[in-house]
Amino acid sequence: MRQAVIIGASGGLGGALASLLLKTEGWRVLGTYHCTEPLWQHPLMTWQRLDARIEQEIAALVTRLPKIDLLINAIGILTSHHQGPEKSIRQFDAEHLMRTFEINTTPILNLAKHAQPALKASHEPKILALSARVGSIADNHLGGWYSYRCAKAALNMAVKTLAIEWQRSLPKATLIAYHPGTVRTALSEPFLNPASARIILSPAQAAAHCLQLLEAITPTDTGTFWDWQGQKIPW
Ligand SMILES: NC(=O)c1ccc[n+]([C@@H]2O[C@H](COP(=O)([O-])OP(=O)(O)OC[C@H]3O[C@@H](n4cnc5c(N)ncnc54)[C@H](OP(=O)(O)O)[C@@H]3O)[C@@H](O)[C@H]2O)c1
Repeated sequence: MRQAVIIGASGGLGGALASLLLKTEGWRVLGTYHCTEPLWQHPLMTWQRLDARIEQEIAALVTRLPKIDLLINAIGILTSHHQGPEKSIRQFDAEHLMRTFEINTTPILNLAKHAQPALKASHEPKILALSARVGSIADNHLGGWYSYRCAKAALNMAVKTLAIEWQRSLPKATLIAYHPGTVRTALSEPFLNPASARIILSPAQAAAHCLQLLEAITPTDTGTFWDWQGQKIPW
């Protein structure tokens, strides 16, 4: 059996990814939740509560696994308490920025730090960090959303930097940042504009695109940023 770990399996995308993997033969999944108690079970699914802001909890989760073949970090926030994405610099709040960073950026680094031995035990470990196109500096034509953009841009830098280190120490690994498209989930729902021409995916559709790409990528793709249509995004 191949072992997948999905951080944020209680979320829209993480849950759809877990369900789809469990329909694919040969996978067992360890999925995490934080505040949303899991509503479903499966014989090959194990649920574990995790606060991804706490390094010791991440370490305890991943070091008990002898092998990880697929690690997906599907957690993230766009809104914290009463603060949503900033339309203007006038709305900037440093505390919101820090909260955004500690959930969107820091966990992938702690996951990488502690999951290395289990990833090394796999013959082709794949690691996917859910990022967002708005984290691309090259693709930023609209502005706004300061905290989320900054946190995802920093996440992208973490992915690129880790990939460079792992080309030496974990050469069989493939690590990418990924934009799932605009997906109808709790995170995006308040900001979806039905009048916009943008395609809105269901979590199941988004998960199918994501797993298709995960099948296709190889270590030569490590340290790159992809979208749901299988196109590379410039950093
Ligand atoms: N939806 C979109 O259109 C879209 C577009 C681009 C990128 N993304 C990215 O895709 C990823 C998944 O987003 P989503 O739309 O599926 O969002 P979602 O449904 O709101 O799920 C967010 C997940 O993050 C978890 N989480 C939040 N704080 C946590 C913490 N402190 N410790 C551990 N887990 C925590 C939540 O757990 P609990 O619910 O259990 O607390 C939940 O599982 C995010 O990184 C997001 O930025 C989404």
